[in-house]
Amino acid sequence: MNVTLSSKSPVSIKADCLVVAAPDKGQWPESTRQVDEALGGLLGELHKAGDISGKLGATLLVPVRDQAWQRVLVVGAGADSDRTPANFRKLLVAALGQLKDGAAKHAVITLSDLATSNVEGTEANRLSMIGRVIEDQLYRFTGYKSEKAPERKLNKITVTASSTGKDLKSALELGLATGRGMNLTKDLGNTPPNVCHPSWLAEQAEKMAKDHDVIKTEILDEKQMKKLGMNTLLSVSAGSAQPARLIVMEYRGGKSKDRPHVLVGKGITFDTGGISLKPGEGMDEMKYDMGGAAAVFGAMQVVAETKPAINVVAVVAAAENMPDGQATRPGDIVTSMSGQTVEILNTDAEGRLVLCDALTYVKKFDPATVVDLATLTGACIIALGHHATGLFSNDDALAEQITAAGERACDRVWRLPIWDDYQSQLDSNFADMQNIGGRPAGSITAACFLSRFTKDYRWAHLDIAGTAWHSGKAKGSSGRPVPLLVDYLMSHVGQ
Ligand code: BES
Ligand code: MN
Ligand code: ZN
Repeated sequence: MNVTLSSKSPVSIKADCLVVAAPDKGQWPESTRQVDEALGGLLGELHKAGDISGKLGATLLVPVRDQAWQRVLVVGAGADSDRTPANFRKLLVAALGQLKDGAAKHAVITLSDLATSNVEGTEANRLSMIGRVIEDQLYRFTGYKSEKAPERKLNKITVTASSTGKDLKSALELGLATGRGMNLTKDLGNTPPNVCHPSWLAEQAEKMAKDHDVIKTEILDEKQMKKLGMNTLLSVSAGSAQPARLIVMEYRGGKSKDRPHVLVGKGITFDTGGISLKPGEGMDEMKYDMGGAAAVFGAMQVVAETKPAINVVAVVAAAENMPDGQATRPGDIVTSMSGQTVEILNTDAEGRLVLCDALTYVKKFDPATVVDLATLTGACIIALGHHATGLFSNDDALAEQITAAGERACDRVWRLPIWDDYQSQLDSNFADMQNIGGRPAGSITAACFLSRFTKDYRWAHLDIAGTAWHSGKAKGSSGRPVPLLVDYLMSHVGQ
C-alpha cells in the first residue's frame, strides 16, 4: 500500500474518503471538528440523532457533496478514559475493515490526533499502530486460488499528523514495517506443507539476505549438523524425505562489541507426530508448526528494513516430523549436542528436540539474551487460550521486559513458572532425561526441558501454540508475535 504522512488539515486533502473518530462522549478530536465544520454541522446532527454512537469500533459511512472528498467514515472511539493501545487498535481494525473492500481509492486517516489514555499514548505510538494495522488488515493470501482475486480499489492512504518531522515519520515507517513483517510471517505460515519444507525455508532466508545487504545468512545441512553432534534435532527429521536445515540469519547494526540478541524459532514444517502419530482431525493445522520460525523471519525483515543500532542473530531449527522406516521410535535414546542424553518416549514432543540443539548451538554467539519461539504444546492452549502467549524465563528482568513489550505492542504474554519442583517429571530410567513429563503442566515441563540447555545465558521461551494462528472459518496465520518481538528488540536501541 502507498502510505504517506501529511501535516495538512484533513479537510484540504483531495481524497475519496476521510476517516475520523467519534468518542462516545466528551470533546471530539480536532480533525473530526474540522470535518464537521466543513459539513455545516452534519456530523453533530448525526450524533444527536444516534446514527453516530461513538461505541468502540462502530462505523458509519457518510457520503457528502461539494468537498475535496466524497465520503466520511466515522469510527466510534469509545470512552476517552478507556483508550488503551488495545482499544485504539480495535477502532483501527474496524476502520480498515470498512476501507479495504470499499469504493474509495484514496483514504485519509486522521486518527493520530485521538487521545490515548496511558503513558505510552504518544502521537508517535499511535502512528506506529496505524501503520501496522494498515498492512496487517490489508493482507490477503490468494496465490493458490486458480481464479485471480478482484483488485482492491483502495490504493493510497494518507495519514495525517501534527508534523512530518523525522520522529513521526519513522514511527509510521516502523509500524508499516512491522505490519509487513507480520505479513511475511503469515505468508510463510499459510504456505502449504508440500511447498514449505525445511529447504524451502532456507531459500527464504537466502532471499532475505539477497534483498537486504544488512542480512547475512548461513545454512547448515544434515551432514554439518551431524558433525556438530545435533542428534536430537536430527532424530526429528530421520523419518522424513525432507532433510533438516539449521538456518542462521545475522544482522549487525550495533557496535561490534555489542553482544547480540538471539532469536530461535521452532521450524517444524509439518508435525504428524512421527511414530507417535497424531489423530487425523485438524492435522492440516500442523503446517503452522513452523510459526516460531515464521515469526523470526518476520522480525528479521523488520530489522532489515528499519536498521536499528543493535545486533540480532536469528536461528531457525527446520525439520519435518514424519513416520517411516527410518523414523525415531519411542524408547530411542539420543545424545544431544550438549552431551546430555534424551530418552524419546513420544516422538510428538519433537519441538523441544529440535530446539535444544539450536539452543546449545547459539552459545557460540555469546548472546546478550536468547528468546525462543515455538508452537510447543497443546497444553499452552488449555492454560491460556488464544489470547496470551506463554512466557517462561530464567531471568526476571528479561521476563519483565518481554511482558512490557507485549503490553505496548498489544501482543501479550503471560508468565508461567519453571520451578525446580517440575523438573523431576522429566526423570528417565535410562537416560539423563526423557522428552515428556506427563499430562500435568505440559507447557511447563516442556519449558523445563529447554531450561536444561539454556543455563549459560539469559533466556526466555515463548509458547505460541495458542496465538500463532487462527482456526475455524478465518483459518490462517496471525502474524504474532512479530509486534512483540519488534517492540522488544527496538527497546534495546541506545542501551
Ligand atoms: N506442535 C505440537 C503442539 C501443538 C499442538 C501446537 C496443537 C498447537 C496446537 C507439539 O509438537 C506437540 O505435539 N506437543 C505435544 C506434546 C506431548 C506429546 C507431550 C502436545 O502438546 O500434545
Ligand atoms: Mn508434536
Ligand atoms: Zn510440534
